[in-house]
Amino acid sequence: MSKKVLITGGAGFIGSHVIRLFVNTYPDYQIINLDNLTYAGNLLNLKDVENKNNYRFIKGDITDVTFIEELFQSERPDSIIHLAAESHVDRSIANPLAFAQTNIIGTIVLLNAFKNLWSENWDEKLFYHVSTDEVYGSLGSEGLFVESTSYSPNSPYSASKASSDHFVRAYGETYNLPYVISNCSNNYGPYQFPEKLIPLFINNIIQQKPLPVYGDGNFIRDWLYVLDHAIAIEMIFHHGKKQETYNIGGFNEWKNIDLVQLLCKQMDIKLNRSPGNSEQLITYIKDRPGHDLRYAIDATKINLELGWSPSVTFEDGLSNTIDWYLKHEDWLHKVTSGDYLNFYAKQYH
Ligand code: NAD
Ligand code: TYD
Repeated sequence: MSKKVLITGGAGFIGSHVIRLFVNTYPDYQIINLDNLTYAGNLLNLKDVENKNNYRFIKGDITDVTFIEELFQSERPDSIIHLAAESHVDRSIANPLAFAQTNIIGTIVLLNAFKNLWSENWDEKLFYHVSTDEVYGSLGSEGLFVESTSYSPNSPYSASKASSDHFVRAYGETYNLPYVISNCSNNYGPYQFPEKLIPLFINNIIQQKPLPVYGDGNFIRDWLYVLDHAIAIEMIFHHGKKQETYNIGGFNEWKNIDLVQLLCKQMDIKLNRSPGNSEQLITYIKDRPGHDLRYAIDATKINLELGWSPSVTFEDGLSNTIDWYLKHEDWLHKVTSGDYLNFYAKQYH
């Protein structure tokens, strides 16, 4: 059956993979990419699909009420996949208000426009909200986040995402708006902006710049290859139960410092540098305030209900990712000019 799917944040890292998957898999769907092209959004990420008949890009801000209401009334999307967000924890510490504006207000503006458009005529409609495991806060050395874990966000980023999740649920309860939410662990892969750990460190190793490890480097994240996230989103979109949440994760926990050492080893080989060359760049710096110790997802529900599990091993995913960045140094140069240099200077002086 044909659908008109509005995907927000499609020019960003995960959004571009979701757009590519939907455009290539569903020629009968109309896919609209709504993105404001902030520093994190880049149409270069979608060069290979930009001329497809089932794809269109619209530039616009999800916090602009008039624009969004008019867009919804004219385009009449039956489904939304909402990824647009401010997404970097360190930026949220420097500027929390921008995160409240985009992540909370922007989500409410979209929910409201969707409600106003369909006036509770909800047949075959869906609002899919893409969220993060960071809403659950920090784990100690034991345990995993499950869908019923209570929210306990610690950063302005995770607090803003938690708030947006609550609003989505509240629209479901109050107006019967059909929704699904997924909360995913840390993603990595091609097209990730080089402010997040893995692409930042790849870029710095290429340039032989210091690798700024926060605190003692013993923080733990659960890493998932971005394509596996996009596949999970596609499965939840079509087969997920309405008004439910799904956790998505890689069952792949790494201490930051172990991951950085692995990255250094792989890059020395790929760059024909002598063993140990990149590790010398590791520099321990002041810890991030409110730094969550450990995230780890229990992805049993999506596995049992929808048959999803990660398809890419971490070793292969990391190797593909490094190869992609080495082959796309032009992309790295383009996205790391201008504003990036100011951000970098402020963040790491
Ligand atoms: P990203 O920062 O790479 O991309 C965000 C996109 O949103 C950009 O294209 C940007 O231009 C757009 N955008 C920002 N503000 C906007 C606005 N006001 N109006 C319209 N567009 C706007 O983020 P990402 O890493 O691709 O994350 C996408 C979503 O997935 C986010 O909601 C994030 O919270 C969630 N998520 C990310 C991860 C991760 O590891 N990156 C993990 C779990 C969940
Ligand atoms: P990040 O990629 O920012 O994702 P998140 O904070 O959303 O998990 O960071 C991943 C981990 O790497 C986190 O524990 C913080 C750490 N980190 C550093 O040690 N140095 C850095 O320069 C960055 C960006 C992150």
